[in-house]
Amino acid sequence: MNPKASSLILVTLFVFFISVNVESFDVTELLNRYPDLIGFNDLLTQTKIAESIANRRTITILAVDNSSLAGIQSRPIDEVQKILSDHVILDYYDMKKLRKLQKSVIVTTLYQTTGVAEKGQGFLNVTHMPGEQFVFGSAVKGAVPVAKLVKAVYAQPFNVSVLQVSQPIVAPGIGEVILPPPPPPYTPPPAQPPKSSSSSNKTADSPGFR
Ligand SMILES: *[C@@H]1O[C@H](CO)[C@@H](O)[C@H](O)[C@H]1NC(C)=O
Ligand SMILES: *[C@@H]1O[C@H](CO)[C@@H](O)[C@H](O)[C@H]1NC(C)=O
Ligand SMILES: *[C@@H]1O[C@H](CO)[C@@H](O)[C@H](O)[C@H]1NC(C)=O
Ligand SMILES: *[C@@H]1O[C@H](CO)[C@@H](O)[C@H](O)[C@H]1NC(C)=O
Repeated sequence: MNPKASSLILVTLFVFFISVNVESFDVTELLNRYPDLIGFNDLLTQTKIAESIANRRTITILAVDNSSLAGIQSRPIDEVQKILSDHVILDYYDMKKLRKLQKSVIVTTLYQTTGVAEKGQGFLNVTHMPGEQFVFGSAVKGAVPVAKLVKAVYAQPFNVSVLQVSQPIVAPGIGEVILPPPPPPYTPPPAQPPKSSSSSNKTADSPGFR
């Protein structure tokens, strides 16, 4: 074999080696580990969002659990796609970074890259509320911050973060906006149970045993 040909083969092998090693990001496999998020995961697959984020290196996914999906599950698939594209932030936000937020920040979502987003629809407003609470809403003017952070699900700094939020975020104009449930009516805390002076201790001194 002439040296030129063999070096070409080497280069080819090398390029092949590199390309198989740059793994694409498999969101489906990642989210499958969380039974509560299976419905959300299915929708990411159906809308092909899973495919379009496979080559992204820096994202934050705002996931909703099975019980919170009802509001969007029965909508036309192209509408679901728009909605869920707004649940993929093209930046890395984990708890540490959220806690550093002074007040609020506007972040760009995958929907913005589709070229069909109208004013503000491809952005979210993330707000740090008093007491370690965070709310997410569409950045469209006048939109209400609807989704509360429930918990951080997964983090691979500084590439992939999955945060669970309380409900889907629908930007005005994409479809019917889902408003958060009204806060429960104020109920006074239950009265302190009366302190029983004759509180029995069942573990010791039970009659009948020796
Ligand atoms: C969530 O829903 C999917 C079907 O959409 C189901 O397979 C899965 O078991 C559900 N998970 C939980 C925790 O209910
Ligand atoms: C983001 O939301 C917060 C809370 O609703 C609001 O105070 C703030 O003005 C919003 N920021 C922008 C740029 O819309
Ligand atoms: C993480 O993101 C950086 C750039 O933001 C990228 O260079 C790196 O390859 C990514 N790592 C993984 C494991 O995806
Ligand atoms: C019940 O018994 C345990 C040990 O026998 C004792 O430590 C505890 O103080 C008792 N509690 C009450 C309410 O008498």
